[in-house]
Amino acid sequence: MRYFILFSLLVTLTINLSAQNYDKQIEALLAKMTLDEKIGQLHQVPGDITTGTDVKKDNLLNSIRDGSVGSILSHTNFDNKITMQQVAVKETRLGIPLIFGFDVIHGYKTIFPIPLAQAASWNLSLIEQIERVAATEAAADGQNWTFAPMVDISRDPRWGRSMEGAGEDPYLGSRIAEARIRGIQGRNLNDQATLAACVKHYAGYGFGEAGRDYNSVDMSEQRLREMVLPPFKAAAKADAATFMNAFNTLNGTPASMNKHLITDILRGEWGWKGMIVSDWNSFGETIIHGAAEDDIDASAKCLAAGSDMDMAGGTFQRGLKKALENGRVTQAQIDEAVRRVLRLKFELGLFDDPFKYLNKERNKSQIGKAEYRTLARSAAAQSMVLLKNQNNILPLKATTTKKKVLIVGPYADSRGNKDYMSFWTLGIGFRAYDSTQVVTPAQGLRPALEALGYEVKVAQVGKNGVCDVMAQSTAFEAAKDADIVIACVGEMGYNCGESRSVANIGLPGNQEEWLKTLKINNKPVVMVLFNSRPLTFEWASANLDAIVVAWQPGYETGNGLADVLTGKTNFSGRLPMTFPRNLGQVPLYYNQLRTGRPQEKFGTLWTSGYLDSEVTPAYPFGFGLSYSTVEYSEIRIEKSTIGNAETLTAFVTVSNKGTMAVDETVQCYINDPAADVARPLKELKSFVRVHLEPGDAKPVQFNITPEDRSYWNDAVQFKCDPGKFKLYVGPNSANVKEALFTVTK
Ligand code: NOJ
Repeated sequence: MRYFILFSLLVTLTINLSAQNYDKQIEALLAKMTLDEKIGQLHQVPGDITTGTDVKKDNLLNSIRDGSVGSILSHTNFDNKITMQQVAVKETRLGIPLIFGFDVIHGYKTIFPIPLAQAASWNLSLIEQIERVAATEAAADGQNWTFAPMVDISRDPRWGRSMEGAGEDPYLGSRIAEARIRGIQGRNLNDQATLAACVKHYAGYGFGEAGRDYNSVDMSEQRLREMVLPPFKAAAKADAATFMNAFNTLNGTPASMNKHLITDILRGEWGWKGMIVSDWNSFGETIIHGAAEDDIDASAKCLAAGSDMDMAGGTFQRGLKKALENGRVTQAQIDEAVRRVLRLKFELGLFDDPFKYLNKERNKSQIGKAEYRTLARSAAAQSMVLLKNQNNILPLKATTTKKKVLIVGPYADSRGNKDYMSFWTLGIGFRAYDSTQVVTPAQGLRPALEALGYEVKVAQVGKNGVCDVMAQSTAFEAAKDADIVIACVGEMGYNCGESRSVANIGLPGNQEEWLKTLKINNKPVVMVLFNSRPLTFEWASANLDAIVVAWQPGYETGNGLADVLTGKTNFSGRLPMTFPRNLGQVPLYYNQLRTGRPQEKFGTLWTSGYLDSEVTPAYPFGFGLSYSTVEYSEIRIEKSTIGNAETLTAFVTVSNKGTMAVDETVQCYINDPAADVARPLKELKSFVRVHLEPGDAKPVQFNITPEDRSYWNDAVQFKCDPGKFKLYVGPNSANVKEALFTVTK
């Protein structure tokens, strides 16, 4: 113990010493910098691809040379990055290195499932490994900083960026945020294979009205703190190096100039010390919002709120100097922002060796390794969710009778449109991902099924996801002599991501009608959905035999799909977002309040419901089937009455009664039935993934701490009350065992 204390002291001392060292170097550098050079460090300029609205690009090398650029974003060309860094360190007065930022959203050159799909794995170590690989590839390609993770909670499938987050739950979102940061930043930012993380979008971006991207957000402080901020807080505590402002207004104030969010909460309450970058021209957009008059006003308001670096818009370049001259900001405020930028560059090791991420050898050896594809395949399989499996039509087992399988649909064997991926695949250029690297469903399934004795036919029908009459008749004819049909439907990859909200969440392009044609001869149909958000498909749910949510699975789409459809890997994915029955139910989420008139039965008047729809979802949060039957014991509570400062301990035993091994995600929720304010019906507080071989029975323990039982009341106090609580454990949010416990004073 004594040695441990000594060791901890030494570690703390070393960390403090190195921080102090940077302080000295930073202050020395700051003392030499002119005002223009300081403002230059706060200016980030787009490189060779564009990921936002048009901005004026001056001659980049000249701007770097005159010290007016501190950072480049979205630049792919490796050799150009070397040239730019050379200009920055060799041809500027102070030789301050550039920092290169990039959107590494679901892989850099090896493309993994979209983040929402990864969240469906509920597998934190898998997610960490994916980020490790993505960071390794990006760092070997000269990037220093990724604009990830996006930790925005989203309850609205219309929002195109739902795909980039971890879904609707703040607890799951927080754990995933931490895992991503561990993967991106590793143990040490200075390491050649790590990047600085950027937690985005701070804050509220996922709650834009009507699901429209960039739209206004208005919410109570309680909802903000309870539903939106937890993953940001978890990320700040996990030492994320940077944050990014959101585009939206929050209760009228644009997030980039929101002092309450940045200075009071993030830097004040949470004590976070990192650097904040704007989103693409979000300082400039404060003027468009109507919350700032001009560049000077916008610069003053954003800097004073606590924001540091200006991405792409050039507002600080045009307005910050004037804002200082007019007395709207102080020199000390500018210096503080510059310090944060310089500190990040020091921490990344860029001052020691500005070319450490620009090593040609590493660029060749660390990108696109075969083992990354193995991880991508496993990730694809682990993120897919089985929603329906009537008569156990899946898995497709070995056959001796040459059964015929038809793989058909707009996403059976599609190439182009970034299908099976998303808009956010930028590592080899904006449009360069033409799906040639993707193993399509047909490419993966054909060999796997032929090896099991099936005869396989493939019919890629429907251009750009649209199933016209031609697609209908081709599919109908092809399905006639099939024994099993695998129908691949969903969304075009290019339509997934930023600025890609939709007003309809049904299957696009007439696909539902097309599915009906396929079913005319009553063949068993397995629907495989390639999607970036929850979609609605009530007819398919009622009439098709099996339904698989495959999301956009990335490079290993077909192989991952083959693994789960043949049972080589059991399904283990669980929905991180509720799937509604219809658009009118949106936003629909499991942790809703009860209302004073909860509807128990459809059609009951004077209850909170609809005349024309049930209130329950099509598939609830946390739902997903497997090929095994896992039984849950009743909950055993160690001590059913505890003090307010005590932790509750509870156990269940889960038993695999099936014949296949399974990874079961055991979920634990609580409800506080009577508090100062109404509390959600259920709140996820813990989950454990348990591996169960056939016949296994394993105990799972849950601890519910006072913090887990606490909530924000209407006076914005975080408190934990005595009283009765409900504890739920089960395989999803709607199917749970229940136990009661009491908390005394
Ligand atoms: C705008 C997006 O909102 C943000 O997430 C992204 O990192 C930047 N553009 C840079 O591409």
